[in-house]
Amino acid sequence: LEQAVTPEAAAVAVPAVPAAPREATILFGSQTGNSQRLAGRLADKLKDQGFEVTLSAMNAYKTNGLKKTAHLFIVASTHGEGDPPDNALTFYEFLHSKRAPKLDGMKFSVLALGDTSYEFFCKTGQDFDKRLEELGAERIADRVDCDVDFEGPASEWLSQVLAAANASVTGAAASAAVPAAASAATAASAGESQYSRSNPFQAEVIGTINLNGRGSDRETRHLELSLEGSGLTYEPGDCVGVYPENDPALVDQIISVLGASPSEIVVPGKDGDEGTLRSALLRQFEITVLTKPLLEKAVPFSQNGKLAELVKPENKEELKAYTYGRDLLDLLQDFGPWKLSASDLVSILRKIPPRLYSIASSNKAHPDEVHLTIRKVEYEAHGRARGGVCSVHVSERLEEGGTLPIFIQQNPNFKMPANPETPIIMVGPGTGVAPFRAFLEEREELGTEGKTWLFYGDRHFVTDFLYQTDWQRMLKDGVLTKLDVAFSRDSKEKVYVQHRMLEQAKELYAWLQEGAHVYVCGDEKHMAHDVHNALLTIIQQEGALDAEAAKAYLADLQAQQRYQRDVY
Ligand code: 2AM
Repeated sequence: LEQAVTPEAAAVAVPAVPAAPREATILFGSQTGNSQRLAGRLADKLKDQGFEVTLSAMNAYKTNGLKKTAHLFIVASTHGEGDPPDNALTFYEFLHSKRAPKLDGMKFSVLALGDTSYEFFCKTGQDFDKRLEELGAERIADRVDCDVDFEGPASEWLSQVLAAANASVTGAAASAAVPAAASAATAASAGESQYSRSNPFQAEVIGTINLNGRGSDRETRHLELSLEGSGLTYEPGDCVGVYPENDPALVDQIISVLGASPSEIVVPGKDGDEGTLRSALLRQFEITVLTKPLLEKAVPFSQNGKLAELVKPENKEELKAYTYGRDLLDLLQDFGPWKLSASDLVSILRKIPPRLYSIASSNKAHPDEVHLTIRKVEYEAHGRARGGVCSVHVSERLEEGGTLPIFIQQNPNFKMPANPETPIIMVGPGTGVAPFRAFLEEREELGTEGKTWLFYGDRHFVTDFLYQTDWQRMLKDGVLTKLDVAFSRDSKEKVYVQHRMLEQAKELYAWLQEGAHVYVCGDEKHMAHDVHNALLTIIQQEGALDAEAAKAYLADLQAQQRYQRDVY
């Protein structure tokens, strides 16, 4: 028997609110590729639901489309001291300027990626969220701010946005039933491989050497890892994410101050790790960074009133000064006595975040291998010798035959030109030179004739010339056309890569005019900033342009992806 449809039932289908078109724009601002991947994931899901989707990097987006789009979803990371990523800059400025259009009638939501150990946590995403509201758009799902372990909250946001977008196009209220996002959270990121950020591959160390000569004040590891059996592949410009192990001496001190037993089981064991307090503190949790959320979570366990005082909003500056350069051992020593069990402790810690390193090898030249260039970071702070978690682990405790949990992080924002004959200019002092070894090995394998120019710098010629024999071979076989070096501490006056660039302004500008791509890798705060200014000077001087026009020239290179940076 067919069921009769009553007139009442039919009437229910008429929406109470006018339905928005099934169309959405998704913009991302991404430095290392995480925002881009998440934006892509949202795009796929919306397309599955019949949405017509525009997916674009912010800088590549034609802003006159804004007034026409019904739904705008933004995924943006925050970099350094609250800065937008390179490929978000011009869009960020546009949206915050007087030129920004009124956006009444548009619906939006923002996903922000960041790191709670920075003061301006998720600032870029927060700014977009606030600004879109100011421009009259309607927020249909709350902004989510993600810490470094972003998969869970990001999947949650994706579900909320999907539900809200569907409600918006049907004119219904957003359904409380949120589609499960578990599959999205575990989706593999790198090609065909089953290994990913959430399921790292245990890569065997097949080579580890110190690239610095005897007498150098630095130690830089050239690490060769086997990818055999992993199915992992990569392209020049991609990164490897490494899960490091914490310093066992620090872990043991923490356990001792806590007065706990190292063999107490505190987490479920996995991959041969038994889940004891000691193994959890070694491999699963972050113990070297103090974030504000961590201190807040620690307050109820401290029987020392000073900690509650420190996290009060009016003591923001004191909190910042305290957390800078201190770790979990300091916290435990400074704010006792504690009423804190081993499982309480791990319940308030962040998961240990992977460290990203630019790959120093070409997959074509080294099938089933990946090479990394890792400089050991050591310093003294608050009366104690300290070091970088990953670089110290790799330098001091990782030997040939040992393993390291890794995954491949594709970097769509640091890619060689599509045409292998296009000239490239590479600026990479220190370990910033790593991806250029990959670029040049790749061109060696391809056998191309495209011109290449490398600017390299470090402290001393004799001890710090990383990969010197590789560059010599490449100069000889012609894959490296020009090499300019700046050894900063061999002369009285400091010379840096940007000085070498300025010395050759004419030729460098000629390369730009011929269509060269420019790549900069390495220190962000000083080097990348100074190199950027050197480029502006060169363009202004050689192109006979004023400062504004030179800025526009460089912004245009950036928009065409002819000026790309991998800076940290
Ligand atoms: P320095 O340590 O002598 O100051 C790799 O670390 C190289 O980058 C070193 O030679 C270092 O020099 C140099 N360097 C430091 N600050 C820089 C800057 N602002 N621009 C370019 N290179 C810089």
